Amino acid sequence: MSDLSTSHAGSARGVASASVPRHVALVMDGNGRWARQRYMPRFFGHKQGVDALVRAVNAFADRGVEYLTVFAFSSENWKRPSEEVSGLMSLVLVAVSKYLTKLAGDGVRIRIVGDRETVSDKLRKAWEHAESLTQHNQRITLSVAFNYGGRWDVVQACRRAIELGVKPEDVDEAWLARNMALSFAPDPDLFIRTGGEMRISNFLLWQAAYSELFFTECLWPDFGEAEIDAALNAYAQRDRRFGMIRPNQVVAEGA
Ligand code: FPP
Repeated sequence: MSDLSTSHAGSARGVASASVPRHVALVMDGNGRWARQRYMPRFFGHKQGVDALVRAVNAFADRGVEYLTVFAFSSENWKRPSEEVSGLMSLVLVAVSKYLTKLAGDGVRIRIVGDRETVSDKLRKAWEHAESLTQHNQRITLSVAFNYGGRWDVVQACRRAIELGVKPEDVDEAWLARNMALSFAPDPDLFIRTGGEMRISNFLLWQAAYSELFFTECLWPDFGEAEIDAALNAYAQRDRRFGMIRPNQVVAEGA
């Protein structure tokens, strides 16, 4: 769990402050509009989105971010037209075969979070292969939320408690956090959404309780180093209090 000491002196490049988030959550929105602006099919935007993601992983790692968690396919994305859903599924397989070796060589650890039961065997096996090939990498952990929803995550943790027969008094915040999809990572410090919408859309509902939010009009395929630095600079200027108050505030108010 995050606390006031989670910000650390990172190896920030081009970032004004030494305060770099350990964990960044990312909603990669705007692929469809990016493609439409170029009179291209939506799928073209998603394809460019994968390339943008590979660039972003390395840029965040270079700046000292340890965990990057991206929303690639939500529990709700099944409601899109079937051609787009199957296009996204095959895009993932293509992306794994195109980029896995590079990401593995770049020191990226890949983890998949989400409901694996309702995806195809082929996709499940590709994910498992990516996870096992990169399991010892330590430069940055890229968690791909696929067939994921924040509400699904809370429900699956509760179901596990019931299945394991955990006593109600033992189900507390710490137990749930240990049994949710991102149990291996600290809570996200910074939550970025591209594409101009200002909502969380059922991403990391539990884990983002104290994340700093950053929204940008930039469409995902255009999200490059300058936009990353803008987000990290904005984060470095935030005052994170986690529901507490600063000791100097107490003195000032008491005086
Ligand atoms: C939102 O844009 C984007 C998505 C639903 C998919 C994001 C997926 C990728 C970038 C590919 C990730 C692939 C791997 C292998 C991790 P949108 O379609 O909602 O865009 P719009 O709001 O402009 O219509």
